[in-house]
Amino acid sequence: MFPFKALLALTTLAVAYAQQVGTQTAEVHPKLSWETCTTSGTCTSNAGSVVLDSNWRWLHTTSGYTNCYTGNEWDTSLCPDGATCAANCALDGADYTGTYGITTTGNSLKLNFITNGANKNVGSRVYLMNNADTEYQEFKLLNSEFTFDVDVSNLGCGLNGALYFSEMDADGGLSKYPTNKAGAKYGTGYCDSQCPRDLKFINGVANVEGWTGDSNSANSGTGEYGSCCNEMDIWEANNNAAAFTPHPCSVDGQTRCEGDDCGATSRYSGVCDPDGCDFNSFRMGDTSFYGAGLTVDTTKVFTVVTQFLTSDNTTTGSLSEIRRLYVQGGKVIQNSQVAIAGIDPVNSITDNFCAQQKTVFGDTNDFASKGGLKGIGAAFAKGVVLVMSVWDDYAANMLWLDSDYPTTADASAPGVARGTCATTSGNPPDVESQEANASVIFSAMNINSSVSE
Ligand SMILES: *[C@@H]1O[C@H](CO)[C@@H](O)[C@H](O)[C@H]1NC(C)=O
Ligand SMILES: *[C@@H]1O[C@H](CO)[C@@H](O)[C@H](O)[C@H]1NC(C)=O
Ligand SMILES: *[C@@H]1O[C@H](CO)[C@@H](O)[C@H](O)[C@H]1NC(C)=O
Repeated sequence: MFPFKALLALTTLAVAYAQQVGTQTAEVHPKLSWETCTTSGTCTSNAGSVVLDSNWRWLHTTSGYTNCYTGNEWDTSLCPDGATCAANCALDGADYTGTYGITTTGNSLKLNFITNGANKNVGSRVYLMNNADTEYQEFKLLNSEFTFDVDVSNLGCGLNGALYFSEMDADGGLSKYPTNKAGAKYGTGYCDSQCPRDLKFINGVANVEGWTGDSNSANSGTGEYGSCCNEMDIWEANNNAAAFTPHPCSVDGQTRCEGDDCGATSRYSGVCDPDGCDFNSFRMGDTSFYGAGLTVDTTKVFTVVTQFLTSDNTTTGSLSEIRRLYVQGGKVIQNSQVAIAGIDPVNSITDNFCAQQKTVFGDTNDFASKGGLKGIGAAFAKGVVLVMSVWDDYAANMLWLDSDYPTTADASAPGVARGTCATTSGNPPDVESQEANASVIFSAMNINSSVSE
């Protein structure tokens, strides 16, 4: 995620997040099967399910249904401070289809961008639960291969259908933070490399202190605290542009930040690498690789394969390379090669590729400063949670993914052009009205404990 993940927008349904649990709507996780495959080629199906992140949920009083949070403001009597708020307020169950436009069938998950239920919902973010439906599934990615199918045909400029891994606690922080009574079942404990400060609860306490409503979004705001952790963006894309991006952090596991540590004062002062080391084929010089009718044809479903290679080809080695392949119409498509002077013509991410890219593009190599591949690989060895989301971008109109960015730079300078979307595209009010019917479908997820050549 580049600048910052703009969160949902549930209009009138103010969300009540205490981290208590409300009972108006029963929480029933949509089922989503996925597979675990082995070297011998045998695959096992896992039952699986997905859970909606807590930030999207209705947050109301434990004693009734008064909102604890309305629009982008906290109720000051119920929430004079974070701890009192956590005691007074409860997160309720979600109507996945009716309120949030989230549906599953078999191994397939569809996320609708806009849902006009009783209120208008914008975007969503879900996590894969384990087979017992008790905690988030933790994935160990080293020396393995993660595969899924995606349909981005209905996802235009300004939108991002994302599939990624974040180093969240499996129980959503339930055991570490006793004031969090909701846990993974209600989608608590989110963190990522942007150290998001728009989370209403962090570490079992409401993010009330210093909370300021966003000037350009009626439903979100930011508090004093953020929630940081290692993040591997396997897939951030629409039908115009795509990127895969590791973002390491200097901290271990989900960590609450404050002030400078969140990167609040300057972009690289935080504990995580906000830019990451991205591989976007268009940005790396192959403008005819990804898009409608191109080598990877985004008008049709395709398979995305990501391989995590280690220094010694074992699950205990250090992460040395991240490779990408596509499969479409039965044909394996190698990732595009870099075609930028000063960068080796490779098609995968290594520390060397990152260093060359940052130098040629004139970007800060915060990726190396925050630990590089080895750093994020250490998180993969411990376990990371699978996140899938659809969102629009109130901070930078998604131009960092699919257009010329920064918009003030010369578009012909290396690294500036990232896709063919107009620099005027991606403004959330426009996207929300013009692409109200947008959706993304992720399916056939599997992790293979061996990496194929
Ligand atoms: C790891 O596997 C690759 C490809 O199979 C091979 O070329 C390389 O020598 C192996 N490295 C080690 C340390 O075994
Ligand atoms: C979205 O789909 C509905 C139903 O198919 C249609 O009536 C509406 O015009 C569409 N809106 C846009 C912006 O395409
Ligand atoms: C898993 O990897 C093995 C070995 O490379 C391969 O034979 C098998 O086809 C893979 N399974 C899937 C589902 O990709």
